[in-house]
Amino acid sequence: MTTPIQRTEIEGVLAEGLALIKDTGLRSKVVDAYMLAVQEGGWTSMKDLNEMPFTLLTDTRGINFWDHTLAVTRGAIGLAKGQLETYKKMPYPLDMDRLVAGGLLHDVGKLVEIERKPDGSWKKSRKGELARHPISGAIFCAKVGLPDDIVNTVACHAKEGEGAPKVLETVLIHQADFATFDPLVMQSKGQLIA
Ligand SMILES: [Fe+2]
Repeated sequence: MTTPIQRTEIEGVLAEGLALIKDTGLRSKVVDAYMLAVQEGGWTSMKDLNEMPFTLLTDTRGINFWDHTLAVTRGAIGLAKGQLETYKKMPYPLDMDRLVAGGLLHDVGKLVEIERKPDGSWKKSRKGELARHPISGAIFCAKVGLPDDIVNTVACHAKEGEGAPKVLETVLIHQADFATFDPLVMQSKGQLIA
């Protein structure tokens, strides 16, 4: 399966996040996983991809997939720095490159979970019904040879990870993810106090 979407286009929309990964090999594999997801999702237009909401579960109020991905990555970095800059000694290992890569990849499976209808609206795909994005995303990451730790992050960042063992990066990305998702859900229910 091929796609007219160019690798450079994916590198472009992820540029701010990719620049935070020091290991160039890891950076390249993050893009590999996205290219695989772009192909598997059958995406043919960057415009569609740029307009894709990051979730179908609530009104995203104009926050697209790329904005969400970068906000979660930056949020997880902030959570990590809170501890790194405060504790005299970190009580558990933290890999900043893997944290950034995991943040950028945590929702990569959504490229096969969400699809555009002919009328321009969005729906869950058949692939998405069969396997939610943490599962499909983890498979993409494993297929392109990303480290198992990042597979853990993608697989366990949402409800699939409840009660499951996790690396620290997964814990931080989970919290950053829900810190961006929950306020939108609360807002739509009239539970977010303005
Ligand atoms: Fe997310």
